[in-house]
Amino acid sequence: MKHNKVVPYHDKMEDKKTQVTSMFDRIAPYYDLLNRMLTLGIDQRWRKKAIATLGDRHYTRILDLATGTADLPVAMKKSLRVDNIIGLDISPKMIDLGKKKIQEKKLAESVSLEVGDSENLRFEDNYFQAATASFGVRNFSNLQKGLDEIYRVLDKDGKLMILEFSKPTIFPFKQLFNLYFKFILPTVGRITSKDPKAYKYLYESVQAFPDYDDMADIIRKSGFINVTYKPLTLGICTIYTGKK
Ligand SMILES: C[S@@+](CC[C@H](N)C(=O)[O-])C[C@H]1O[C@@H](n2cnc3c(N)ncnc32)[C@H](O)[C@@H]1O
Repeated sequence: MKHNKVVPYHDKMEDKKTQVTSMFDRIAPYYDLLNRMLTLGIDQRWRKKAIATLGDRHYTRILDLATGTADLPVAMKKSLRVDNIIGLDISPKMIDLGKKKIQEKKLAESVSLEVGDSENLRFEDNYFQAATASFGVRNFSNLQKGLDEIYRVLDKDGKLMILEFSKPTIFPFKQLFNLYFKFILPTVGRITSKDPKAYKYLYESVQAFPDYDDMADIIRKSGFINVTYKPLTLGICTIYTGKK
């Protein structure tokens, strides 16, 4: 799959996983600020809408993959009935900042964060009732392997929710958004995060990444059923859901 080959630092010999980890370690201190700035705060609304797809049942355990600085677990604790959330991320620096956030919000009793690779989960089969990932799966080195692992650790009827960037299709929004995404966003990202490549990688990785029906097919390939998707904000991102 060509999207698995899109990497942040083209000049380096390291594999995607190593490059992605060091990129997120580097931009971690600026990550939340840039999210709010570059989306004018809409990213938090997208997370809320995505969480709403999990409904109002009671969850014992939810796994949040590529949890970053734990924005999704924090939002889930506000609106879901869930006892425990485990947030997992490959970047130790993102996890450090996430842990600080969880402490500040006094959520440490029910939310725990750890460093780990979504493509190699330490959990036993059928352990979680739901698995979530916001803006994370695009960064996996092997998307299908990550989805297979998520399927494995979900219990019977376990729910999957993925929120990921997609490519707007409607004229002229598609063209206008593309100008912003390709030129303005990488410039603001470069100045603020001091990483010249990270926000160029964001644009390139979204262009190469499967969306809508293509993504739904990939999710089904890992065994998920009842796969649906719902574009948000004219297709800037899309919520995908499925069931084991
Ligand atoms: C764009 S951030 C999203 C963070 C968070 N979910 C959010 O909504 O803001 C992507 C995250 O994916 C993590 N990541 C990339 N590949 C991963 C993998 N194989 N396993 C776990 N985390 C991974 C990165 O370290 C990064 O923190």
